Amino acid sequence: MSKTKIKYVCSNCGCESVRWLGKCPECESWNTFTQELIETSKRKSTSITSNYKYNTLEKISVKEDERIKTGISEFDRVLGGGLMPGSVILLGGDPGIGKSTLAMQAASKINQKVLYVTGEESEKQIKIRAERLKLKSSSFFVQAETSYSAILGAINEISPSVIIIDSIQTIYRSELENSPGTITQIRECTSLLMEEAKKNHYCIIVIGHVTKEGIIAGPKILEHMVDTVIQFEGESNHSFRILRAQKNRFGSTNEIGVFEMHEDGLREVKNPSELFLSERERQTPGSVVTSSIEGTRPILLEVQALVTPSNYGYPQRVSNGFDQRRLSILLAVLEKRAGIRVSTANVFVNIAGGIKVSEPAADLAVCASIASSLSDKVIDNKTVVIGEVGLGGEIRSVGNIDKRIQEAEKLGFTQAFVPDGNKKEIKSLHKISVKSFENLDQVVKNIL
Ligand code: TYD
Ligand code: MG
Repeated sequence: MSKTKIKYVCSNCGCESVRWLGKCPECESWNTFTQELIETSKRKSTSITSNYKYNTLEKISVKEDERIKTGISEFDRVLGGGLMPGSVILLGGDPGIGKSTLAMQAASKINQKVLYVTGEESEKQIKIRAERLKLKSSSFFVQAETSYSAILGAINEISPSVIIIDSIQTIYRSELENSPGTITQIRECTSLLMEEAKKNHYCIIVIGHVTKEGIIAGPKILEHMVDTVIQFEGESNHSFRILRAQKNRFGSTNEIGVFEMHEDGLREVKNPSELFLSERERQTPGSVVTSSIEGTRPILLEVQALVTPSNYGYPQRVSNGFDQRRLSILLAVLEKRAGIRVSTANVFVNIAGGIKVSEPAADLAVCASIASSLSDKVIDNKTVVIGEVGLGGEIRSVGNIDKRIQEAEKLGFTQAFVPDGNKKEIKSLHKISVKSFENLDQVVKNIL
């Protein structure tokens, strides 16, 4: 016999409690506990079925070329070469960023049956968007539905290769008493979809919204359940969008895909460096270009710094697109090892275009831009600056130096500042003039 009980669940991380709590003990967010019903039934002992199978590793065969190409190469690359049958992909992003647009564009290019389930829009709205995007596809099925059982019915009838659920927050199972969008519903529907995907080799793309904090709404558990998590990022005042894999059971997680939103949908950006440098002012103090590796691809980025005198005891340190703590460390190193007086100055650092850099190879460019802004001396705008900065002020070598230099050369740069440790690896065929440095002090002296 089953009876229902009440529990409280954190809508952010899925942490459970028997009492309501103001602050989640796990993810420390406030006011996220909501009441949910649980069905408890007496636990039965497990009986063994005769219907099971297993294999030795050797005997399990995998066909290569199994992946389904979406025809959007930026998307395919982030996925690790295309959609993997039997996998569930969570596509997250802020509302209005273009998740539905991306999913529809990809769906129309797949030349296999695709079922697009929409719980947020009507069939008509989907049609209007398809017309705007000029999509043509005869194997694109649309279902405006939120009930899981009805969706399963359509899946069984159509038997599509790819299923898109837009969005998971709207789907519900009527057997559960919780309303759509609650943790229990999201978790239950996702796990049923997972099961369905594994059993019948469907590839399922689940779209999920992101909360203000940048976490996919619904429990973190969702991220643990699915095979791949990709985030669609961007700023509302920029037209470009970045697709980033956060978790990928079938590929690398550091690939990014760059898109631009236009009147007629998303367009791939084949050469992101050009895009990110396109609005660069000529010869401004505090502006330095670095070559960053995103996934397997080098991208040139402009680091901007503004250093101003501070009138208060606590100078401000603000960074956009670069880790704030890393900036604090670099400022300390600049002061101690290169004699740059920044402890009483406000320092603002920005990576132009709204992109984020997370690799340490951008350190030297950040330091150089700060030194340049403080001294009001321009760094030659055909120079690219590459290197990690250590606490001792030493310039540490970075990976993929040739790729980085090649990209800079391609875009017309004539000089590269690189770590001394990388000098040996650099092929001599580069036309660009390469200057290598051992420590920050040398770089700063060179700039000033
Ligand atoms: P959408 O895909 O609906 O976002 P999401 O599903 O992530 O909520 O995209 C919405 C935004 O994209 C909307 O502000 C309008 C814009 N847009 C374009 O600029 N061009 C287009 O061709 C389309 C379809 C949308
Ligand atoms: Mg949408």
